[in-house]
Amino acid sequence: MITATDTLNVLLIEDDEDDYLITRSLLSKAQVIDCDLEWMSSYEEGLEAVLSNQYDACLVDYRLGAKTGLDLLQEAKAHGCRTPIILLTGQGDLKVDIEAMEAGAADYLNKNEIDAPLLERSLRYARERGEAEERIRKQAALLDKARDAIIAYDMDGRVIYWNKSAERLTGWSKEEMLGEKARERLYEHDQNGVLGDCWETMMASGEWKGELHQQTKGGDEIVVESRWTLVRETDGTPESVLVINTDITERKRLESQFLRSQRMESIGRLVSGIAHDLGNLLVPISLGVKVLQQRFSDDEKASRTLSVIQNSAERGSDMVDQVLAFARGVEGERVALQLGTIIDDVQNITEETFPEEVDVDVDVEEDLQQIVGDATQIQQVLMNLCVNARDAMPEGGTLTVRAENVTLDQSDARMNIDAEPGAYVCVTVSDTGVGMPEEVADKIFEPFFSTKPEGEGTGLGLSTAYSIVKGHDGFIEVQSEEGVGTTFRIFWPVSQAEAKPVDDSASGELRDGKGARVLVVDDEENILNTAKDALEQAGYRVETAQGGGEVLQQLRAHQLDVDVVITDIVMPDPDGLAVIERLRAERPEVPIIAASGLADERTDKALAAGAEEFLSKPFTAEKLQSALQRVLRLNDEPAASSR
Ligand SMILES: Nc1ncnc2c1ncn2[C@@H]1O[C@H](COP(=O)(O)OP(=O)(O)OP(=O)(O)O)[C@@H](O)[C@H]1O
Ligand SMILES: [Mg+2]
Repeated sequence: MITATDTLNVLLIEDDEDDYLITRSLLSKAQVIDCDLEWMSSYEEGLEAVLSNQYDACLVDYRLGAKTGLDLLQEAKAHGCRTPIILLTGQGDLKVDIEAMEAGAADYLNKNEIDAPLLERSLRYARERGEAEERIRKQAALLDKARDAIIAYDMDGRVIYWNKSAERLTGWSKEEMLGEKARERLYEHDQNGVLGDCWETMMASGEWKGELHQQTKGGDEIVVESRWTLVRETDGTPESVLVINTDITERKRLESQFLRSQRMESIGRLVSGIAHDLGNLLVPISLGVKVLQQRFSDDEKASRTLSVIQNSAERGSDMVDQVLAFARGVEGERVALQLGTIIDDVQNITEETFPEEVDVDVDVEEDLQQIVGDATQIQQVLMNLCVNARDAMPEGGTLTVRAENVTLDQSDARMNIDAEPGAYVCVTVSDTGVGMPEEVADKIFEPFFSTKPEGEGTGLGLSTAYSIVKGHDGFIEVQSEEGVGTTFRIFWPVSQAEAKPVDDSASGELRDGKGARVLVVDDEENILNTAKDALEQAGYRVETAQGGGEVLQQLRAHQLDVDVVITDIVMPDPDGLAVIERLRAERPEVPIIAASGLADERTDKALAAGAEEFLSKPFTAEKLQSALQRVLRLNDEPAASSR
């Protein structure tokens, strides 16, 4: 409330000095307020003074030389003037009065009728109005600072308030939204009538809370947590709806990525158990076939049958390998690479083998940074993506492969749960094919997930790609739209680390064992037998031990006399780890090869405990041989390091 001790700072813009004197004397008679009057005699000076927003109220004469008080009022408001302005008019021109109020005047007074109480009342009213507007402006500024979108609707669902965050979130400005129905802008895809239900609930209970999917002006989909409150007038009639929306798009995305990666982990554990058993079944087949092939080398019919068996066993063990690779991640070479060369190879293969209707468009940035990895694996990833793209374009289309340097900052890295900020080479593989719905896109990296007809897809392509990319500390993203196409983006980290030289000791040839003494330890008898046969045929002298107990016994009795030990890890107590640890302690000079079909932390433990090599089961005779060659040579020349 204004009291007599208040001083009201009043500005008078008036070009006639007599009129100024009259106003001054009127104000001096004011009873409740104490006025401090300042006088400006020209339009320009007056405008500048009122725009300083230093006055509690401003009186403006209508006649101001060439211009009018109305001009001044309009110009001041257009420049953001917040001071309440009272227009002093000549003979009570109604038209001018109306225009003044429309232009935002606080009041208008007829100069001929003015007296002290009238002027005082008008000034007090103007000041109160100025204060109220200031309060509202401050509140609105606070609402604009809020992170949440704050919106109000009238009861027809038309926007009557739209704060800055609402603009930021949706891309629609206040000017575009005021008076419009949000439904037509933000909820174009609301085919299920979710909004109608929300409205009903709110009308019935006074509020509604939930998640809503909105569309931005740019066409992106966002997810908001929305709270609606029905605002009533004092008599209870619904007046408006206050809505507060919190943007949870990013949280939702991370949540679903997290769920997916958890699902992938549990699938990994599940399949690795099965793969372990399958792998064990395949070892005797692979090794046994080798033995039989040599024995029946002059029997053509038997040889043919044997090579069919061999092929099947190899295909089976390939699949087991892929599944294990998915579960355990893949080891591979880590050498410095130019992705450009790999992409060249992929381009050649696709151009030669893909149907003519598929255009292959390759664009590799010059000065692509080096990454560190396994070229064969990386090529496999790109080929898997390209083959999928081809399959998605049965009628033809364009396959685009792009590679470019990118740098991800903190906020980019938040987009993907597996991403870290840093430098990457990004490879994009996109097609103009059939695309896929979200339910499919959500599952494509799972092993054995395929939408292709029986016999045409095993569903291992993308799960293999996923584990290879993960093994390279990279990550993979997919975007797809049905009927438009699909884009995969793989981020390979750029590495500064020194590249290791390529290890080329693995080759398919059976090597001469030169009578080296090998001890094979496994709990399964048929694995022992077939390994023994295969190794003996390759020129090794082989002993076997069924289970870890036997080895520990031999060690205790100082009877262990071999050049190398191959041991299974997963065995009934004592397991392979116990064997490795004891061997390391008592016979540090004997190299150890650990073998397992189960993907778990024991692999790393085995290597940490001192095994030189790790073989994943099922292993072929070749893999076993080359591992043996490596560790035996390693033993002879300690300087040569291949691990
Ligand atoms: N470019 C693409 N466009 C549309 N759908 C795709 C695309 N790439 C993958 N998919 C979907 O993802 C599924 C899984 O792909 P993935 O490569 O893992 O297995 P697959 O191609 O079905 O079989 P495989 O690769 O083992 O022969 C596919 O069956 C298909 O539904
Ligand atoms: Mg595939």
